[in-house]
Amino acid sequence: MKYSIHVNGAIKRVEADADTPLLWVLRDTLNLKGTKFACGAGMCGACTVHLNGAATRSCLISIANVGSGVVTTIEGIGDTPVGKKVQQAWLDIDVVQCGCCQAGQIMSAAALLATNTNPSDANIDHAMAGNICRCATYPRIRAAIKLAAGLPMIDARGADARSTSRSLRQSRPAAALSMSGALFCVQARRSAAAYCSTDIT
Ligand code: FES
Ligand code: FES
Repeated sequence: MKYSIHVNGAIKRVEADADTPLLWVLRDTLNLKGTKFACGAGMCGACTVHLNGAATRSCLISIANVGSGVVTTIEGIGDTPVGKKVQQAWLDIDVVQCGCCQAGQIMSAAALLATNTNPSDANIDHAMAGNICRCATYPRIRAAIKLAAGLPMIDARGADARSTSRSLRQSRPAAALSMSGALFCVQARRSAAAYCSTDIT
C-alpha cells in the first residue's frame, strides 16, 4: 500500500504493508534513525515520537493508523520552541549516558512541557514513567525538564539535581543501574544494541 504521512513538516510518500509499525517506516524507509528501536513492544519508550503533539510509541502504531496525523520525531522537535528548550537543557545538564533511551525521553519531556509549563515532580514522574533508562539518568532527566521549564532544579525528594547528577556519575557503575534498568538492559541489548547511539538531535 502507498501512504502519505506528515513528518517533521513535510509530506512523505512511502510504500509499506498496512500493519508496518511507524517506527519501521521512520527508520528503514525515511532514514530517520534518531528514533530508537529497543523493546519493540511498547514497554520502554525509546521509540517515542509525537503524533498530533502527543507522546506516542511508534513501535505500537501501524502506518495505516497514522492516517493524516502529524508526526514529529527527534529530528524535528528542535524546530519547536519547547523542543529547542528541552534539547538545550539536555545539553546543559549533560543528561546523556549511553544515549539509547534519550531521544524518547526528550520527546516525552517535550510533549509534557507543551501542555504543562509548570509541571510538579508528580507531573514529571507521571509523564516520564513509561520511558526507561538503563543507565538510570533519571535525576538528570528531571533536572533538565525543570531547567527547560524555567523552574528551580530542586527535587522534592530532597536532592539537588545537579549534585545528584554529579555523585551518580562519580559512583558509576554501582549506582548507574537500577533494577528495572538492568532488566531492560539485558532485554534491549539482545534485541537492539546496534540501533543505539548517542544522538539526541
Ligand atoms: S521500542 Fe517502542 S516502546 Fe520500546
Ligand atoms: S542513557 Fe538511558 S539507556 Fe543509557
